[in-house]
Amino acid sequence: MTTIAVIPGDGIGPEVIEPALDVLDALGLGARTDVLDHVNADTYLRTGTALTGADLDRIRSSEAALLGAVGDPRLSDTAYVRGVLTTLRLELDLYVNYRPARLWHDRLSPLRDPARRAIDCVIVRENTEGLYSGIGGGTRTGTPQEIAIDVDLSTRQGVSRVLEFAFSVARRSVCLVDKANAVRNGGQLWQRCWSEAVARHPHVETSHLYVDTAALRLATDPTAFDVIVTNNSYGDILSDLTAALAGGLGVAASANLNPVTGQALFEPVHGSAPDIAGTGTANPFGAILSVALLAEHLGRTEEADAVRRAVAAAVAAGRVTPDLGGSLSTKEVGTVVLTELRRP
Ligand code: NAI
Ligand code: MG
Repeated sequence: MTTIAVIPGDGIGPEVIEPALDVLDALGLGARTDVLDHVNADTYLRTGTALTGADLDRIRSSEAALLGAVGDPRLSDTAYVRGVLTTLRLELDLYVNYRPARLWHDRLSPLRDPARRAIDCVIVRENTEGLYSGIGGGTRTGTPQEIAIDVDLSTRQGVSRVLEFAFSVARRSVCLVDKANAVRNGGQLWQRCWSEAVARHPHVETSHLYVDTAALRLATDPTAFDVIVTNNSYGDILSDLTAALAGGLGVAASANLNPVTGQALFEPVHGSAPDIAGTGTANPFGAILSVALLAEHLGRTEEADAVRRAVAAAVAAGRVTPDLGGSLSTKEVGTVVLTELRRP
């Protein structure tokens, strides 16, 4: 039987995972859930570790994992949040971070020209290396001569495998985004791997942009992009931009994937949103659309499309949470999506 490991987490995490699990259930995938509801800030405060080796084993032995969000105002993000998210990404070697951005309704776009609004692209973010490698150090701390160094790590294996994945999901084109003119060593490594990947896929249209130009193009004409492949930090930043162009953080879904081992973890792009946690107004679409990505991963394309159609219908009817201009609660939006899903 297919098992889905579920980590609701903190803040709005459990609030958006609840309707997402209802949707998962409604899809009838015949999957069992293994809920790890102790992986949260309270456990960290009590024991000093939120995610144990035993937890990782449970996640490893499931077909896919679904995460709400972790983060708590009582704790520093570096010690706690990174401890959970980075451990999951590195221990499971989830080297692809797949972040689709698609405009579910014209009303959600901030762009003035209707023809330019229709964003429907994917950011493929390298998820294990780059500036977030954790390598570095500091000295003369607290003095006027203080120095801090964070290493921007790129490996040939790490770069080649994420580029290969980007080509595997291209519908029209792949655009490499880097800053090879300024970040020379890593830039040249990415460029060499890119030339090899382009040669392996002669039928895919390709382009290359520096990250500043890519930000400008995304803000003026996002329809120009299909797949954007980039490093960890640029992917982090550009995917917040694409999320904004598609209606905001509340609708952004993501997959953390290892296409070789099949290990996969799905989560909304947003964090635990302590500012709105407990108010019942968190938008569940990011979590629900993450379930669509999960269904797709299990080979259930039709079910994934049904979830997307249900979300699009809820948006079109204005039956949404306050962040999208509506007045419904998290639970009410969950019910709307379930009703749409059950419509014959
Ligand atoms: P955040 O994504 O939690 O919130 C940013 C803003 O967007 C807030 O104003 C929030 O109210 C709003 N927002 C987020 N999700 C929403 C939703 N579903 N519906 C309506 N509004 C929504 O980012 P922030 O505030 O920087 O981080 C809060 C905590 O979450 C921190 O501890 C951070 O480390 C953690 N975090 C965890 C992530 C994860 O678990 N993958 C990702 C990002 C942040
Ligand atoms: Mg981010």
